[in-house]
Amino acid sequence: MANVVIIGTQWGDEGKGKVVDLLTRYADYIVRFQGGNNAGHTLVVEGKKYIFHLIPSGILYPDKKCLIGNGVVLDPGVLLKEMTDLAAAGLPVNPDRLTISERAHLIMPYHNRLDNNMEAATKQGAKIGTTGRGIGPCYGDKITRQGIKVGDLLDDALFREKLTENLKEKNFLFASKYNTATFSFEEIYAIFQQYAEKLAPYIGNVSVELDRARKAGRHILFEGAQGTQLDIDHGTYPFVTSSNTIAGNACTGSGFGPSHIDAVIGILKAYTTRVGEGPFPSELFDQTGEALQQKGAEFGATTGRKRRCGWLDCIVANEAVRLNGITGLAITKLDVLSGQSNLKIATAYEEGGKRLTAMPGNIRQVERLKPVYEELVGWQEELCDIRSIDDLPSATRAYIKRIEEITETPVAILSVGPGREQTLLLKNPFA
Ligand code: IMP
Repeated sequence: MANVVIIGTQWGDEGKGKVVDLLTRYADYIVRFQGGNNAGHTLVVEGKKYIFHLIPSGILYPDKKCLIGNGVVLDPGVLLKEMTDLAAAGLPVNPDRLTISERAHLIMPYHNRLDNNMEAATKQGAKIGTTGRGIGPCYGDKITRQGIKVGDLLDDALFREKLTENLKEKNFLFASKYNTATFSFEEIYAIFQQYAEKLAPYIGNVSVELDRARKAGRHILFEGAQGTQLDIDHGTYPFVTSSNTIAGNACTGSGFGPSHIDAVIGILKAYTTRVGEGPFPSELFDQTGEALQQKGAEFGATTGRKRRCGWLDCIVANEAVRLNGITGLAITKLDVLSGQSNLKIATAYEEGGKRLTAMPGNIRQVERLKPVYEELVGWQEELCDIRSIDDLPSATRAYIKRIEEITETPVAILSVGPGREQTLLLKNPFA
């Protein structure tokens, strides 16, 4: 039995979906524990591309159970659409294959509108560049104890009461502050009644289900969304998402005890990308950045925005190792680096005449960081057909070894292309 957490080490989009898909083979249960449909996990299976925003990608395996934990914020319309699309692709979802925590919070239509209004009202330079999916306002309501939970869909009186109270405040904001349209109780209530009917069979107690699974010796995979630098506490605040993206939240966000986690796999893209606003010390504004963006097809899976690209930042990697207790790294998109004559790795920052090896907490300071690079020789060979570490060019092996040295963490998985088969599993965390 092993329980494994998969976490993004950078600003999201590290290729977690692919690694989750690979390790799902060895797991019985796959759990989402934070975020919502701001995430987009892209998978290529037998040449067919799938993008999941809410349902764990384990749903592609008919014999696996998927769980959406209490830490997730759930837009029921998006979930039902994913379920319909899966059914159309010949993969029907039923309650034996998916449980949604009664304690997860609902993203309501006013959350999306608030998200967009708040962004529009923020001055240039302070905008977050959110995905516009209502994530921040929904978590905001959760923390201020105004949120509506998935389980509330099953209690009509409670749902009505909460919706009425919420609309009073939200409509006041729309009318008085943002000067936009308000919502009527009836329009939201009617839609959510339909959602309640459709989702009722899926709503349950995820913590109890996981506990049973653990005691029965089943393997559990916790699928993180976004990345460590987008963590609400430990990331580049305020340019972050509104949940804890780090491994500790696998427990809080699903109701699973920390002493039962056996391994944490950190997904590290071989270079760095970021979508949305916010500081990015190793960002490249030149042809190399452009080349990485194009070769890596770096577009956000949720919004389609071009991702900003830069060199690998090992201060960021080290932050992730420390914050998540990473036991093994999965290096993804190594193939994208082919063709570069030299490669750079940031190993420290300089700011105000000082050398730093940890990410400062002050955002103004983070904006001023200048990376200190170490240079390595690149490789010209394409890697996409390589299936053994021994067949990798010596320069690629040197790059991997250097990452292991700097992070003091072994590499467990290497990815050399988007396909399931383009993966080198060096150490299976479930074995
Ligand atoms: P929000 O999560 O929509 O509130 O967006 C907050 C910040 O997190 C923005 O910079 C987004 O671009 C970023 N973000 C949210 N989800 C993802 C993701 O799955 N991958 C990469 N960036 C994300």
